[in-house]
Amino acid sequence: MSYIGVFDSGLGGLTTIRAMQQLMPSESFIYVGDTARLPYGEKSTSEILKYAMQMVDFLQGHDVKLIIVACGTVSSTVMDELCEYCKIPIIDVVRPGIEFAIKSAKDKLAVIATAATVRGGFFQQALKGRHLQFEVRACPLFVPLIENGMAEHPITVPIAKLYLSDLTEADTIVLGCTHYPLITHAIKKAVASDTKLIDMSLAAVKTALTHLETSNMSNSSKPQSQQFYVSGNTSQFDRQASKILKTPITSKKIFWSNPK
Ligand code: DGL
Repeated sequence: MSYIGVFDSGLGGLTTIRAMQQLMPSESFIYVGDTARLPYGEKSTSEILKYAMQMVDFLQGHDVKLIIVACGTVSSTVMDELCEYCKIPIIDVVRPGIEFAIKSAKDKLAVIATAATVRGGFFQQALKGRHLQFEVRACPLFVPLIENGMAEHPITVPIAKLYLSDLTEADTIVLGCTHYPLITHAIKKAVASDTKLIDMSLAAVKTALTHLETSNMSNSSKPQSQQFYVSGNTSQFDRQASKILKTPITSKKIFWSNPK
């Protein structure tokens, strides 16, 4: 059995798992959430790279045929280094995501993401010289709210309004952090009703699917197996992940040899 490896700092990558369940339901996967060290959006580039390499090491030790980096922060800041480091195919979420968004947007595109992603300048670079006006904005409270089980709490709506209510001219908003689709309901209340919200995971999983098919690596018949590993509290993750994926999840604890 060969798995697809998927990793994120925490719950955000489950939005990628949702897209995988929709687009490649017979693929088995191993998910890693580095919940003990999140939020990645507040970390330095060297810390992000070190943590991402540890997750790649872990997945490469588990019969994984392809890795999806289900984290906008890792994907936008250290992907060149990770591609060089990783011995198997590795796909990020931001490149397929932004290309899809550029095709979908009419005049003005906004990207919302973590502070580290905004600071890294990936989206600004990708959008420079295109036909669109754009803005890239950090929403640093979103990830802690979601990870603390407050995605559905009423406080999430005024916080979304605080960050987003002046983005009135954007016809399209890219959810540049994989956690953000988990609070789509709050984001929708903060922006104009006809604003398009783009979840990058769908485009990334389509890219992964094409890669599997063209390299003859897809799993067409065997039943799907799923494994979840987290570095923090397993029961807290299980409770929230089960809600997000609408099926009971039992994760195993992962211990980093060099945790800091
Ligand atoms: N879900 C991740 C991202 O896409 C990580 C967010 C974080 O840990 O700050 O950016």
